[in-house]
Amino acid sequence: MKAIICTKYGEPEVLQLQEVQKPSPKNNEVLIKIHATTVHIGDTKIRGFKPSMGMLDLIVKPVMRIMIGFWGPRRKILGMDLAGMVEAVGTDVTRFKVADEVFGSSEMKFGTYAEYICLAEDDILAIMPNNMTFKEATPVANGGLTALYILRKAKIQKGQKVLIYGASGSVGTYAVQLAKYFGAKVTGVCSTGNVAMVKSLGAGCIIDYMQEDFTKNDEHYDIIFDAVGKLTHKKCKKSLTKNGVYLNVLRATDALKLKVEDLAYLKEIIEAGQLKSVIDRTYPLEKMVEAHRYVDKGHKKGNVVITPL
Ligand SMILES: NC(=O)c1ccc[n+]([C@@H]2O[C@H](COP(=O)([O-])OP(=O)(O)OC[C@H]3O[C@@H](n4cnc5c(N)ncnc54)[C@H](OP(=O)(O)O)[C@@H]3O)[C@@H](O)[C@H]2O)c1
Repeated sequence: MKAIICTKYGEPEVLQLQEVQKPSPKNNEVLIKIHATTVHIGDTKIRGFKPSMGMLDLIVKPVMRIMIGFWGPRRKILGMDLAGMVEAVGTDVTRFKVADEVFGSSEMKFGTYAEYICLAEDDILAIMPNNMTFKEATPVANGGLTALYILRKAKIQKGQKVLIYGASGSVGTYAVQLAKYFGAKVTGVCSTGNVAMVKSLGAGCIIDYMQEDFTKNDEHYDIIFDAVGKLTHKKCKKSLTKNGVYLNVLRATDALKLKVEDLAYLKEIIEAGQLKSVIDRTYPLEKMVEAHRYVDKGHKKGNVVITPL
């Protein structure tokens, strides 16, 4: 099968299209033909060995080397998100059958920059929403579950004023819609070119960060969710209500454990027409270098999708 191999840490050119052996499922695994995967910013941080946690990088980098590899990733095929079709099942598998359309995340097993992957049936895997394409379903298990986790951590309540900073990114676009779904009054912060898109996702109020610094107006929010990790609690303090909370996507996800029940929960919201994926660009597998170059710039709108087929 075709796969993208990350030969070492570095610029996007370290990613090379190669022919590798197609995996075969163990008894508890399913073999999935991948129809779509994504390139998210986390993939590019691993490829470039750039954790972007500021001063914490001094601690994070050695830990990262131990966890994922010293001079290059131990697991050479990167990528975590997937949507595809089950092609074969191991003898013990009961949750899935051949031809099921599934979506999910391989998490730290990586391996989705390829035509096929084997995952255990109890990995982060669920039947796809019946109203999404493969391209739309693939980013949900990362950006969607991250947004859900942080909004729950903030204990979001109906009627609260919630500000989503970086509302046009992957996490941000899901966060705007989920906050609206939970009954909050949502303000999205984005740049001029993304105002219409963020509004269409349900933000009642938009602040264009190129025109206005929200920390300098007199508004107060119960939750400020920094979905791009560019702010600090100190900067936001004046804009919080008395019991308001500031959550930064880079710090608030340290204990994030993806759960298959949560993926099923998002599937229900999607099928109810309350949550969709914003797709910016789509690249074929062989254009992975270009896809990484684009995501590296930090200005994608929603999600960048790769189609191995
Ligand atoms: N995606 C995931 O599944 C996931 C999971 C866990 C954690 N994270 C972390 O969450 C962070 C965001 O990830 P992401 O994939 O959502 O990011 P992303 O899609 O790459 O974010 C890009 C978006 O952020 C906006 N942006 C950039 N600088 C901004 C600024 N100064 N103010 C406001 N908006 C700004 C950009 O809009 P403009 O072009 O208009 O500036 C662009 O639409 C990353 O640090 C990532 O590591 C992501």
